[in-house]
Amino acid sequence: MHRLIDRLEDKHCLTNDEWIALITDRSEAEYLFERARFTAKQYYGNAVYTRGLIEFTNYCKNNCYYCGIRRDNRNADRYRLSREDIMDCCRQGYELGFRTFVLQGGEDLYYTDERLVDIISEIRGHYPDCALTLSLGERSRESYQKLFDAGADRYLLRHETADEAHYKKLHPSEMSYENRIKCLYTLKEIGYQVGCGFMVGSPGQTIESLAKDMQFITELQPQMVGIGPFVPHHETPFSDETKGTVELTLYMLGLLRLLKPNLLLPATTALGTIDPRGREKGILAGANVVMPNLSPTRVRKKYELYDNKICTGDEAAECRTCLNRRMESIGYELAVDRGDPAQQ
Ligand code: 5AD
Ligand code: FES
Repeated sequence: MHRLIDRLEDKHCLTNDEWIALITDRSEAEYLFERARFTAKQYYGNAVYTRGLIEFTNYCKNNCYYCGIRRDNRNADRYRLSREDIMDCCRQGYELGFRTFVLQGGEDLYYTDERLVDIISEIRGHYPDCALTLSLGERSRESYQKLFDAGADRYLLRHETADEAHYKKLHPSEMSYENRIKCLYTLKEIGYQVGCGFMVGSPGQTIESLAKDMQFITELQPQMVGIGPFVPHHETPFSDETKGTVELTLYMLGLLRLLKPNLLLPATTALGTIDPRGREKGILAGANVVMPNLSPTRVRKKYELYDNKICTGDEAAECRTCLNRRMESIGYELAVDRGDPAQQ
């Protein structure tokens, strides 16, 4: 496996069989993390980039089997943040040192292009030195273009799995794998910095599906990849499924770092949820981004994609301080920076 890890670090790609072999035999995980950490340090030093996440709506027209805010969850307490609420989050975030804001929400038809353009333009006008990331799911090319023109610079849309049969097990038939992938290429063509990503250990995932994820990422060449363990939510069809593991999530993070050395790779909240030191471990496995929550505390608990999500009771300032301490404990520090990709 040493050989395959070195080959990945050298060539930034592997064949499908090599991916399968390397993901199956994880006996050299410590060596992988060493190489991944070394690579991240070369590109980003000991800086960890931060993104202030604003979860502005938990209405969603989709019904993904894994997700706590799926349409059929009648017990979800739905909310939308007003434009003023969102601006308040940004103001607070800016004071705390965030220079990237991520507007994330369910696929909520209330947010027409016009409403979104208003919000985006206002943020862009107030914070010209900040990056603005959107994470609003699948939309049309025209819509993505309008939002880009209004001032958004990045877009996160996890592909969830690059294995079409597996995609069908995670989503009802009204959703299509083909459209999801098309959206990602469209976003790239428009000029967004693009992030895809997948859950680790989602029901029905195999080593072959993970190999396909790595092949897909090699092809798409996104600037960001968000991965975290699948964590069951009690009000979903997957409530009794087993959660993903810390071990495999960290391993995939290490592989992603070597696959694309300058990748923006978050140590996610889901990873912090299944392990109290999950985010620190993620950074030590090659991640270089953290995405604490800036949403008002009164709505935090309501944006529950999975059970036991951390930080739902904490103020943004508390999370900033907490993460500062956590990163310093492993020899890293939070950067006050837009956090664009380093030159490859
Ligand atoms: N466990 C882990 N991650 C989840 N997501 C949604 N539901 C869950 C869950 N139960 C992830 C999806 C989505 C992102 C916003 O959150 O990958 O793209
Ligand atoms: Fe939110 Fe630690 S990051 S409390």
